[in-house]
Amino acid sequence: MTSTIRKRPGSMPRIAWFLGREYVTRLYDRYIRRQSREHAVLEYVVRHATRGSPGSVLQTMDTFARERRWLQNVGPSKGAVLLQALRDAQARRVLEIGSYCGYSATLIGNYLAAHGGQLTAIELSRRNAEVARQVVAHAGLASTVTFRRGTLETEIGALAGPFDLVFLDHWKDVYLPDLRRLEDAGLLRPGTIVVADNVGFFDVTDYLEHVRNCGRYRSRFERASVEYQDALEDGVEVSVFTG
Ligand SMILES: C[S@@+](CC[C@H](N)C(=O)[O-])C[C@H]1O[C@@H](n2cnc3c(N)ncnc32)[C@H](O)[C@@H]1O
Repeated sequence: MTSTIRKRPGSMPRIAWFLGREYVTRLYDRYIRRQSREHAVLEYVVRHATRGSPGSVLQTMDTFARERRWLQNVGPSKGAVLLQALRDAQARRVLEIGSYCGYSATLIGNYLAAHGGQLTAIELSRRNAEVARQVVAHAGLASTVTFRRGTLETEIGALAGPFDLVFLDHWKDVYLPDLRRLEDAGLLRPGTIVVADNVGFFDVTDYLEHVRNCGRYRSRFERASVEYQDALEDGVEVSVFTG
């Protein structure tokens, strides 16, 4: 990943502590536990979350992320922003790019299942896509969420749009190229809401300049903290495509 972190005065010791701990945990997972945290969270969900209950799956993943190992899920506070955007868009057809272990797919899928909608979720990593698929199936949402393994570039030809809402939560250096791909392919319509996660933590200046200044979006920043890390500033950009 080539994205850089936004550096604010006074925030570097907290960021350094967080990244250092993450690095050590990953080494520990690989060489001592010999199990990825993604497989660990899947096992935990299957053991502790009520089958067929998206709410129970989300709560169980939150517990794992707070009490065991940090997870890069959108998490509950930014998840609430995402849920409000789904309501505002009256979303039925949704695209997610970056699924990780299926937390946001479960959150979006839960909303769409109640409103007769469908989520298409694109995930680059084979392992993560499989974990996400099993988590979503445990939540009882397999018929609402379709996973595609790849990138927007590889999958765009198979997408049926336009989408009512797009959730960008993959590597930050491709937010802008992927948004442009969606624009060029006619997969956005006037009123489509594009929600971009982590824009207050990572430096995504090129993306923010585009949605704030190109004249084709009404865009606002929702301040938040990094998932499960109250001391680290983050935020979500919510942009309404105007055509
Ligand atoms: C922050 S996590 C996604 C978290 C997820 N949206 C959630 O809230 O549960 C980022 C994911 O994006 C995936 N990814 C990275 N680059 C990608 C790309 N170009 N296309 C699709 N997925 C990508 C990574 O493999 C990783 O699983």
